[in-house]
Amino acid sequence: MAVERVGVSFEPELLSRFDALIREKGYASRSEALRDLARESIAKAEMDSGSGTVMGTLTILYDHDASGLSHRLVHVQHEHHADVMSTLHVHVDERNCLEVLLIKGERSDVKLLADRIRALKGVALGELALVKADA
Ligand code: NI
Ligand code: NI
Repeated sequence: MAVERVGVSFEPELLSRFDALIREKGYASRSEALRDLARESIAKAEMDSGSGTVMGTLTILYDHDASGLSHRLVHVQHEHHADVMSTLHVHVDERNCLEVLLIKGERSDVKLLADRIRALKGVALGELALVKADA
């Protein structure tokens, strides 16, 4: 495969931090690390746009003592178009629960449901990861 060389300018401080990070991650070269970053950014941009069916995981941390939260969490899942196919619930400590929801649906519906859940008072975190699920 033909390659094209590009020159990249860095501030010294940023470059030394980047070098430390890529050493830690085990990259053989800056070039490979930069290519991976480019691929990741492109994949992320593609995931964040367009339509079609997706599957996603939403990871939330919430305080089960927050007023009405457990009820609102279930309610919001029932009233939205995206399907919550499975949930994994782990009790972290006296108050906090970690939950992973596996959601399938139209991209905009999955994102909307994730936004509604994240917006509930008492919900911390809220990482959504999507993969395309079109046939
Ligand atoms: Ni239910
Ligand atoms: Ni719990």
